[in-house]
Amino acid sequence: MTTAILVFDSGLGGLTVFREVAKARPDASYVYVADDAFFPYGSHGEDELVARVGALTGELLAAHRPDLVVIACNTASTLVLPHLRTRFSVPFVGTVPAIKPACAISRTKRVAVLGTEATVSREYTRALIRDFANGSDVVLVGSARLARFAEDELNGTPIADELIARELAPCFVDADGRRTDTVVLACTHYPLLLDRLERLAPWPVTFVDPAPAIARRVVGLIGPAASAKPPPPAHIVFTSGRPSSAALAAALTRFGIAD
Ligand code: DGL
Repeated sequence: MTTAILVFDSGLGGLTVFREVAKARPDASYVYVADDAFFPYGSHGEDELVARVGALTGELLAAHRPDLVVIACNTASTLVLPHLRTRFSVPFVGTVPAIKPACAISRTKRVAVLGTEATVSREYTRALIRDFANGSDVVLVGSARLARFAEDELNGTPIADELIARELAPCFVDADGRRTDTVVLACTHYPLLLDRLERLAPWPVTFVDPAPAIARRVVGLIGPAASAKPPPPAHIVFTSGRPSSAALAAALTRFGIAD
């Protein structure tokens, strides 16, 4: 039987995770859910987000009966995963800031974590720094705008370089003879802008995208591809029910999703 995987985000950012998971398990069938009616998650209070994601997950599990759920959103995962695991028996794979691997690879021991304002203020994120900084100085950079910029770009609305550069700039610290050399992309929307981030960086750094590690975790839980038979094309659900623009439809096709 085909394994069914549900990938969930507040919007289109989780496509960067979906892409890697689908590469690792091309035989699975996928439903991608964008909770765009509630986007951006970073602007909601914690109680509100726990209630929203819990209720929506219940509905999605009943409608799609997946074998595994990927919460492809740091803003949700750093808060709601324990609630979901208590409430539902399906396995959940979350997406949390890749602070441990980033601090392990940093040579200058200066690391930045770029996420939504909500993610960088979470106790979960601060605990990761306490536990895994490994002697690195870690700067937390919260952006209220970058996730929206990534959505706009994918929807065919170009965003000026200066606007992206302004959100990125605080990640770059040059002090005591040591410059930031590693930036954690702690929001799944940001790898959608990776080319721009690399071009606009004041100096070259390693941007850490957790998606390949998430794909490995999925395979660790449900095993490697079980069949050579190609599954039906992945299907996308927008909680707003919005019809997609031509630009978005083209972008979704590039990600292997039938709108
Ligand atoms: N993609 C989401 C994340 O990884 C955040 C975007 C939002 O604020 O909704 O954090």
